[in-house]
Amino acid sequence: MSDLSRIGVSISGRLLEEFDRLIAGMGYQNRSEALRDLIRDRLVQKEWEEGDKETVGIVSLVYNHDKREIADTLVDIQHRFTRAIVASVHVHLDQHNCLEALIVRGKGAEIRKIADLLAGTKGVKHGKLTMATAGRGIV
Ligand code: NI
Repeated sequence: MSDLSRIGVSISGRLLEEFDRLIAGMGYQNRSEALRDLIRDRLVQKEWEEGDKETVGIVSLVYNHDKREIADTLVDIQHRFTRAIVASVHVHLDQHNCLEALIVRGKGAEIRKIADLLAGTKGVKHGKLTMATAGRGIV
């Protein structure tokens, strides 16, 4: 705790009110923790924007497995990127729909490419890349 710095921030009353309402709704007990999380989130975004930093992400895909060619294509793509895709979970949501969550590791730009390829596969109902962080450089 010795490396804690206290800072003063000038901010308009209205913006501060909106901020307080926002963070209260998110369950924050105080502004400091909310501000720290906002800064960390922006730093993670910067890692992704730079594209050449080692990072991790989660790709989620929802598709109908009755259309066999979709499942085959998704598996083929995953086999092309065995080093980047480090884990996967498959959930049979109902008789027709499947959810796959893939944990992807590598350079931001490469992960984005793999996520776009998977999510852009014809027949995928929903595909999304959640950008996480390998944690290095984030305090
Ligand atoms: Ni399934």
